Amino acid sequence: MKVKKSVFDLQPGDVFGEDVFEPVRLRVLLVPKGWKIGDWEECEELKVKLQEFNVQEVIVDVTEDKAPVPPIGEIRKKALSLFPIISEETRKRALDVVKRVTEAGELDLKEVDELVDDMVNEVIAKGEVMLSLYAISRYDDYTFVHSVNVSILTALFALEFSFSRDELKAVTKGAILHDLGKLRVPKEILNKPGPLAPEEFEGIKKHPIYGVDIAISAGEKSDSVISVISQHHEWFSGRGYPRGLGGERISLLARIVSVVDVFDALTTDRVYKPRMLSYEAISKMLHEGAIHFDPKVLSRFISRFGIYPVGSLVRLSDGKIGVVLKSNPLSPIRPIIKVLYDEYSREVEDPYEIDLSSSELFIKDVLADLSKSFTP
Ligand SMILES: [Fe+2]
Repeated sequence: MKVKKSVFDLQPGDVFGEDVFEPVRLRVLLVPKGWKIGDWEECEELKVKLQEFNVQEVIVDVTEDKAPVPPIGEIRKKALSLFPIISEETRKRALDVVKRVTEAGELDLKEVDELVDDMVNEVIAKGEVMLSLYAISRYDDYTFVHSVNVSILTALFALEFSFSRDELKAVTKGAILHDLGKLRVPKEILNKPGPLAPEEFEGIKKHPIYGVDIAISAGEKSDSVISVISQHHEWFSGRGYPRGLGGERISLLARIVSVVDVFDALTTDRVYKPRMLSYEAISKMLHEGAIHFDPKVLSRFISRFGIYPVGSLVRLSDGKIGVVLKSNPLSPIRPIIKVLYDEYSREVEDPYEIDLSSSELFIKDVLADLSKSFTP
């Protein structure tokens, strides 16, 4: 089967399904049909070459002999057992707290503080917490599921910044409360499946201000927490809202939550669009680069979680199937993999690890993200 692929998304192992010509006069053949991309070095060179000639998309042939993939549910079950997962109790409490705030409009800051304390303690104790959010797929209100996802991921990411425990708690609390102001935005606008009318978007753009108002009325005193609520939609370029702050005028905590917020939004199913796989979301965020995000925070996010976050189920270039166990900070595209199935899709009796940074093998396909798509 032939499919269109953005040049940016080309990967080693991709086979060109059509000749690629220089697009203006169509005289120069840039890549012949049938050409198979070798390693990442070749892939990057090719991308640069194609972009120089202003080629945006190419046709890739995805009909290749592959052993059939075992049922994804089965691979997930096997892979999930490998990870420490944030405890069911903490996650349920987080959901209950946010649900109460969302549905009843009551914000009990003491309860949020206790929850954040436990979340931060758990993340510090485990160090690496698998972002398995499968249990929350039972809840269908995006706003509070999203707030919980963002706070767990933020707590984990914030460990990278040598923050004090108070700062860790502030950023996690800010993340849990970041969209609080959406309580004052009509549901029909929030869940509208199509594009928003300008006045509807103006309404949405006020949610950071509403959020600050609600938090302060409930007794929130921390400037750090307030900065996350008020600035999480500010862009590094100054083109965000509500105030158009730019660069380091946006608090570091808000710049952190902004990256996590967009990542989670892109990798979660919404009423109007299906979710992206993590690596697709990261490619998109890299495209937007310094316009939207603080580049240093974004690159730290990528080196912390990798292009292929922990829990991605992947097929390697030799056909084996495994799960991303750990990212390699120095080489985000070459994480450590636990191999679960051989190249004939037979279960490996004794799953073993491969560090792709010291191997010829590379990730050929992403089959699924363990963290987002599991339905119990
Ligand atoms: Fe928001």
